[in-house]
Amino acid sequence: MATIGRRTGAVGTALVLALTIGGSALAGIGIDRSSDEQALAPTRAPASATIEQKVDKLLSQMTTQEKLQQVQLLSDGQITDADAKAGVGSVFSLVDPEQINHFQHIAVEQSRLHIPILFAYDTIHGYRTIFPVPLGAASSFDPEVAQADAAVGARESATEGLKQVYSPMVDVSHEPRWGRIVEGAGEDPYLGSVMAAARVKGAQGTDYSAPDKVVSSVKHYVAYGEPEGGRDYNTTDMSESRLRNFYLPPFKAAIDAGADTVMCSFNAINGVPGCANKYTETDILKKEWRFDGFVESDYTAVAELRACPPVEPDSGPCGHGVAADGPEAGAAALMAGTDSEMVSTNIRDYGQQLLADHQITMSRLDDAVRRILRVKFRAGLFDHPYVDVTTASDPASYGRPEDLAKSRWAASRSMVLLKNDGQPLPLDPSKSTALIGPLGATVDEMLGPWSGRGTDPLAPKFVTLFDGLKAASSAPVTYTAACNLAHNFDPPNNANPPITPDEEVCAGPGDDGTTIQDAVTAADNADQVVLALGESAFMSGEANSRSQLDLPGHQEELLDAVAATGKPVVVVLFNGHPLDLTAVQDKAAAILEAWFPGTEGGNAVADVLYGKVDPGGKLPVSMPRGVGTVPYYYNHEPTGRPCDATFKWNSRYRDQSTCQPLYPFGYGLSYTSFDVSNLKLSRSSVGRNGTVTVTMDVKNTGERAGDDVVQMYIHDPVASISQPVRRLRGFQRVSLESGESTTVTFTLDKSDFGFYDNRGKFVVEPGTIEVYGGDSSAAAMERSFTVTR
Ligand code: NOJ
Repeated sequence: MATIGRRTGAVGTALVLALTIGGSALAGIGIDRSSDEQALAPTRAPASATIEQKVDKLLSQMTTQEKLQQVQLLSDGQITDADAKAGVGSVFSLVDPEQINHFQHIAVEQSRLHIPILFAYDTIHGYRTIFPVPLGAASSFDPEVAQADAAVGARESATEGLKQVYSPMVDVSHEPRWGRIVEGAGEDPYLGSVMAAARVKGAQGTDYSAPDKVVSSVKHYVAYGEPEGGRDYNTTDMSESRLRNFYLPPFKAAIDAGADTVMCSFNAINGVPGCANKYTETDILKKEWRFDGFVESDYTAVAELRACPPVEPDSGPCGHGVAADGPEAGAAALMAGTDSEMVSTNIRDYGQQLLADHQITMSRLDDAVRRILRVKFRAGLFDHPYVDVTTASDPASYGRPEDLAKSRWAASRSMVLLKNDGQPLPLDPSKSTALIGPLGATVDEMLGPWSGRGTDPLAPKFVTLFDGLKAASSAPVTYTAACNLAHNFDPPNNANPPITPDEEVCAGPGDDGTTIQDAVTAADNADQVVLALGESAFMSGEANSRSQLDLPGHQEELLDAVAATGKPVVVVLFNGHPLDLTAVQDKAAAILEAWFPGTEGGNAVADVLYGKVDPGGKLPVSMPRGVGTVPYYYNHEPTGRPCDATFKWNSRYRDQSTCQPLYPFGYGLSYTSFDVSNLKLSRSSVGRNGTVTVTMDVKNTGERAGDDVVQMYIHDPVASISQPVRRLRGFQRVSLESGESTTVTFTLDKSDFGFYDNRGKFVVEPGTIEVYGGDSSAAAMERSFTVTR
């Protein structure tokens, strides 16, 4: 496994190259772009002439009705034989290979033009072999983790007949309350961009017509990660510079990596919903970035453009009120640039009438259909429309040993050691261990939300923490649940209230009938104590925002009782929201953030707890001090009164004694120690088109081998618009033996030290750029250079 993780090139350099290839590609599309912006031009491969000819030919044969069918995307519960025969475009969530073939045979053999259906699925962090949740994978600061996850997920999905995945989810988010923060790479656009590109590469390879590849749909376009108050689906209002500097970059990176489909988001940005947003969908995505794939709406997002009754008398999804009725919603979506409508059927149903009324144009409809057909040809669907049912139904096709090994490796690389006072970790495998807590042996919590088909009969058996510890220890391991955890927070029929109240978590005996008192006894009787705490898998993910961020329910009482035994307590956290760990931090001797680690989770946590793997992950989000301090993000702007906790009149909370989060972005410990030193720049001044090479040395100064993530941040102290106090622009995870050192090299150019202003222009301004180096966002080493005119 070591060879998979050992990197030779720093990530900063790779991304810079990806962003700067293809210089003048914006020329000729009528957008007035400066040479600075051309440096960020798209890098997509040109369309294949053969495929374009096939698309044109097919399109020229299609009736209007067939075109309207092609832009329809139905769910597994909606699709009928009649839809397939009429030439429906795509279907999602249908996972039975017999059924997939059934509808595909109808589409290919009985529809007039024999156009195959594109079958899609939400393979977010695995299909049957589940990898750590994406927020966990981002903690690895290793794009190979994300790439391996996407590649295994693609192979297993494609084996089942699915040719499109609704991932990567690349929404940058500063909102730990938001349930979907678990699906993305956290709060940083640069880390998010690297992970996004890696996921696309893993899923698509260089040619997604390959039998083990799928087309990626990058979502949710755009700024869905910043809902006000952290409430899912809520409104987003933001400046142009914010949009372009924080939220668009991971989408651009995914598109540049070849992602051929995009999902527009539910939320409104500045009052304009994502699926009716011509500026983001057409002007930026399709024109500026030259995206030639298609955009599908999110689930009923087109219907949701409508006003609710009494304005719109139809029942069904509604709300935004930017369209009076279904026809207006369909027209708004299509004309803004949405090419395919998921679940709701407004474009298909009202298209003829909208064309007659000149509410939509045939050229726009043709463009949408052309894009969908292009992706279908690129996916090889016309040549290989059917799934091999025998292979798809064979358990050996899923959870292959090499994939389980990758999942275990990915999970162990994704863990972040937050505290290890007195070194209770690594555990001693020859000493007895009491595993305590509601997440120690749970039903499917290890897999986290959006866990695909991770628990169906063809899925590999997942490993609980109890299983993992027993397998790794030569001494006895006991398990005491101590209290309950509501496993399934999703009630039948989407009932309201949709969640078990927090107070009911850890409020009664555990599944094994044990209580907190039993936990105290177990701790007293063991040499080492591990507490498995956190959230149920259903507490994060879609529609699972939380207004509190501490450990749900009475888990802190359990921690208090066990800590009172005097034994050093090791807390392992399984969670999807970045939690407020203020209380845990005080009482636990060690804290390991394991997120939801996936199928091999129990083994992976055991690998780290017993020291087989060094915990080298770093936080991709800031961990807050109290829910009242969110949103907090390391790359915030300075304000006119930068926070100073020793002085009153500045930007801070009167009831907080510090301006810092509990744990900063990029933070994480190891079982060994590292010294990052010798930050050097290749030059002290650079022209706007020049590059600066940044080097740092990192040395393992401890007794054991381990991993660190060397990080480079920059800050532009004087600019025409106030700049973030720090911005990550390069990182590299290194594995070093005790005493070993290495030099890490990054390259900075204008794509790093420039920024988008509020007119949407990319500008490179003369002046000083500060460079910080270290192994967290609190990196102290500083140098600077000057950008000359
Ligand atoms: C709604 C979610 O927002 C999106 O992420 C998902 O891909 C679709 N449903 C389809 O399941």
